Amino acid sequence: MTPTRDQSESAARFIPQGEDLAALREAANSCRGCSLYRHATQAVFGEGRRGAEILFIGEQPGDREDVTGKPFVGPAGKLLDKCLQEAGIDRSKVYVTNAVKHFKWEPRGKIRLHKKPDLAEIAACRPWLEREIAAVGPKLIVCLGATAAQEMLGNKFRLTRHRSEIFEQPNSPALTATIHPSAILRMPDAEARQQETAQFVSDLRAAAAYAARAHEPR
Ligand code: URA
Repeated sequence: MTPTRDQSESAARFIPQGEDLAALREAANSCRGCSLYRHATQAVFGEGRRGAEILFIGEQPGDREDVTGKPFVGPAGKLLDKCLQEAGIDRSKVYVTNAVKHFKWEPRGKIRLHKKPDLAEIAACRPWLEREIAAVGPKLIVCLGATAAQEMLGNKFRLTRHRSEIFEQPNSPALTATIHPSAILRMPDAEARQQETAQFVSDLRAAAAYAARAHEPR
């Protein structure tokens, strides 16, 4: 993992000692590591069990997530749930989080339109992600979309070339990346959406199979 780059814009000083997920979640709400907290309702920390074998990383909370304080509960979350179910993955047994914990948006009429976090905001939030990964101790990290994939696998990583490949690393969880469910929802053509959904389910199945194998004694 690459170290956090800029300590001046960083969540590091807001993170309590230890790996208690509830304490981390509570502390995240007071994070002022970058300016995104100013326009968000609350921090949206990851959700799931310590010891979960698979940890999913999305980009950042959306409008529904910002309001409810839970990751992946809006339209992308509903699609993720459906695909997890089809792939035989129980969401209550995995950990789901985001690269950035506050919702970044711009007004568009009455709508709060998702705005992609920039590299400094992603880097500032990285210490939370590192602590979540350490606390959960997954066998496999699944990056959903390019933002999470490039954060975890380097900015040269291209989903088009390496989607669903498993990258093992010494003394750290293995990594893989697939499409973000929002990208599927944005596809204008129903047939493409259907094909991508099927491919996404197949990627999730492959991830589950890897995590199950990693669990077996060698
Ligand atoms: N998109 C994300 O990347 N994360 C969420 O929690 C919701 C939508």
